Amino acid sequence: YDHDPKFPEGFLWGASSAAWQVEGATDADGRTPAIIDLNSQTKVPFADNSIAADHYHHAHEDVELMAECGFTSYRFSLAWPRIIPHSDGKVNEAGIAFYNELIDDLVAHNITPIVTLYHYDMPVWVDEELGGWKSRKTVDAFEHYARVCFERFGDRVKYWLAINEQNMQICYGDWLGVDKGCDDWFRDKWRVNHIMNLCHAKAVNACHELVPGGKIGPVPGMVPIYPFSSEPMDQIAAMNAEEFTEKIWNDTDAYGEYSTFLKNYWKNNDIDPGIEPGDEELMKSAKIDFIAVNCYRSNTARWAAANAAAQAQLMNKTGEKGKLIFPTVPGQYQLCYNPYVPYTDWDWEIDPVSMRYVMRYLWDHYHLPMVVTENGFGAHEHKDENGEVHDQYRIDFLRDTVYQLGLAIEDGVEIFGYNPWSFTDLLSTGNGIEKRYGLVYIDATDDELNEAKAAGVLPPMKRIKKDSFHWYSKLIKSNGAEW
Ligand code: BG6
Repeated sequence: YDHDPKFPEGFLWGASSAAWQVEGATDADGRTPAIIDLNSQTKVPFADNSIAADHYHHAHEDVELMAECGFTSYRFSLAWPRIIPHSDGKVNEAGIAFYNELIDDLVAHNITPIVTLYHYDMPVWVDEELGGWKSRKTVDAFEHYARVCFERFGDRVKYWLAINEQNMQICYGDWLGVDKGCDDWFRDKWRVNHIMNLCHAKAVNACHELVPGGKIGPVPGMVPIYPFSSEPMDQIAAMNAEEFTEKIWNDTDAYGEYSTFLKNYWKNNDIDPGIEPGDEELMKSAKIDFIAVNCYRSNTARWAAANAAAQAQLMNKTGEKGKLIFPTVPGQYQLCYNPYVPYTDWDWEIDPVSMRYVMRYLWDHYHLPMVVTENGFGAHEHKDENGEVHDQYRIDFLRDTVYQLGLAIEDGVEIFGYNPWSFTDLLSTGNGIEKRYGLVYIDATDDELNEAKAAGVLPPMKRIKKDSFHWYSKLIKSNGAEW
């Protein structure tokens, strides 16, 4: 570091979570199942989300710890099936009460809530009775849910996020259960994507109508794509990868219309995204106020048509860790190993510079204020003999990332907060609680969570502050000066 970057007064320092990954209590107080519950119970060989970090029963303790750390913001999501559990559309007052208490508690501690409406937990009733993401009926159901949230919480919640990582949901539809009931995902995903865009637009407009002073934005999952080399076709490959994993969604959110790139792609591939009269006007009317950015890592792309030997070499990261599997889209791009950055135990690129890159990139393209709503370091972790967790690698990663964020602010980018994933350890999308991200350790393993579920007894779920908690606390309390 050659100098200390400065952060604006009132910068929002906090952390991030999602309902299905942190709350547990999946059948408490009237909550009904979500599609992601089923996914987590069937696809993943770790603990499922029925207990998670048991935040549902530890919310007050968690907020007290956030306050002790010095948080000025907390980004979390509301669970749709906790708020509207059945197809009659009736509001579940017990679900509302849980979030009211959480929001009141945050506000009482001067912690600004940043609330996501949708983070992968569509109620099963929406999927089974309305046809889920394939059906236009879902747009009305989502709008009803969004309006209830704005009416009940909008007096205290001013920052709203509509749909978490729509780009990742479409790119990895099979993984997140979004492709349920679709026969030809290559084509059908654009219809699903269109339904999500209509839901997004309805939520943006309803927020502006119902929440005085309310601001709302999308949450793209940003993984910047570097070209593997200065070979010109590697640059085209990187641009293609960026279009198909991120830019299509960012353009639609920022401009309220589909890009010519996407329309041409549909035409060339004979794809009908299911646009009906009035849809484009609705999309155009929904003006976002900011972009919430999730960014953990970068990817690297090369032209797919390279020779097989070079390809094999690039696809093998190292002998000892075996093979990374890189998606290839024939004729467009192939993702590959980046020899310039290290990798986590979970094969994610450790690349704090990607944060500055993403911020510069989004600012240059869209000129909208931004807040970081996810970033972090997933690792295998254990308590030592004194019951402590020493996570210097996480401190190093967060510090390097915060530095890069500061540089982006110096570059002229408008950024108003940093909320890494996650406050406590919680359930990862595909790796149970074994892949830990928290500043606070949750004292339970996947096996213990499975045993507890089978026995029907909740474990104590003790919270243990990691070294990163103490480091982050100093950083926050000095508004980024002590790091
Ligand atoms: C983000 C998601 O993409 O990445 C989170 O919004 C997720 O839900 C996070 O947990 C980290 O990914 P993973 O797979 O390590 O849990």
